[in-house]
Amino acid sequence: MENHLIVILLGYFFVCDATNTNERTDQNILDDAYLDPFTIIKKYGYPSELHRAYTTDMYVLELHRIPPTRDLGFQGPRPVALLMHGLLSSSAEWVLMGPDKGLAYILSDAGYDVWMGNARGNTYSRRHASLKPSTSDFWKFTWHEIGYYDLPAMVDYVIKETGAPKIHYIGFSQGTTAFWVMTSMRPEYNDKIIAMQALAPVAYLSHVKSPLLKAIAPFTNSLERIVKILGVNEFLTNGKINELAGQKICIEEAITQSLCTNILFLICGYHEEQLNATTFPLIVGHTPAGASSKQIIHFGQVYNSDKFVQFDYGWIKNKITYGTFSPPAYDLSAIRTPIFLHYSDNDWLSTPEDVNRLAKEIKSVVGKYRVPLAEFNHVDFVFAIDVKKYIYDRILKIMSQFNV
Ligand SMILES: *[C@@H]1O[C@H](CO)[C@@H](O)[C@H](O)[C@H]1NC(C)=O
Repeated sequence: MENHLIVILLGYFFVCDATNTNERTDQNILDDAYLDPFTIIKKYGYPSELHRAYTTDMYVLELHRIPPTRDLGFQGPRPVALLMHGLLSSSAEWVLMGPDKGLAYILSDAGYDVWMGNARGNTYSRRHASLKPSTSDFWKFTWHEIGYYDLPAMVDYVIKETGAPKIHYIGFSQGTTAFWVMTSMRPEYNDKIIAMQALAPVAYLSHVKSPLLKAIAPFTNSLERIVKILGVNEFLTNGKINELAGQKICIEEAITQSLCTNILFLICGYHEEQLNATTFPLIVGHTPAGASSKQIIHFGQVYNSDKFVQFDYGWIKNKITYGTFSPPAYDLSAIRTPIFLHYSDNDWLSTPEDVNRLAKEIKSVVGKYRVPLAEFNHVDFVFAIDVKKYIYDRILKIMSQFNV
């Protein structure tokens, strides 16, 4: 909580700087930094719904929806899209940048019935039938469980609510990682997805450039040591981030420094030209939205092992859990859904080398698109000033070809 406050306060400083130029916009930004996606969507004149899906292991997940109730002159059933956010983020990611740049609005304007998921542990999915987020048992999950339980629960819920036989899926970063887990471990879900758009796809991490992930990775095979650094339950909630962010990682400009204390940018980096400084308060108001330490540790293990593998508990527990001393790799060859990979050169997490390797192993990759802007980085896929021009227009075109 304390961390969140600091982050929001930092946001205020940016706003104070900018208020002279455009007061109305800035009041909106201030408000939106606090509002939940359901309310933000309504505020900008779109219909908004809140839904809950229950996983088979009893987590309660909140979905935000822009239903197809606006009369845009469309006939017949509307295509359905499920959007899944990245690490430390939430459904807010798809609406924060406003109606012109938020993918949820853009899809809605194009006639889609838009659903935004929230993974267990984030701001909107912190409930469970019996476990409380204040206990360790609540946080015993990684993106493996998000892919194995959360995504299927949300996909089934959306299909049941809309009556659509199949839906589109769009994932950003960890929203793609979880998708690989779902479609490789539970192959029947391949048949429920029309096509998948992977923004900054993450599976292999061997070429990661993120200084924070690299700093953490050496410890991730010694679980006791790493949880001492990261905390046992929720990831970095207790001011530890400031210790970590402290020295080497940050450059010494004022704006960079402030962003630097936000874990999202520490992990992903940022690119000034495509990040609109006026919108910082929005981003820092909504991220980090919560993740388990195990989620980060699991990414660290993938980096270390040079494989896309299940969680490594150490050889004794691995033998009990998996029947093998080392954790099994995900079987990417089981993925059958048509996959479109969208990636960029300056991405610290989803590097071209690792994306190429992924593209070779998933047999159903039908499109691979490298953003033609050298500086484009990880968070640019959701927050960039020109994200519509570089990515979303293209995605819309691809998706429309499946809707005939
Ligand atoms: C930056 O964001 C503000 C507030 O939403 C907006 O008014 C402005 O046009 C944006 N600038 C660019 C370059 O997109």
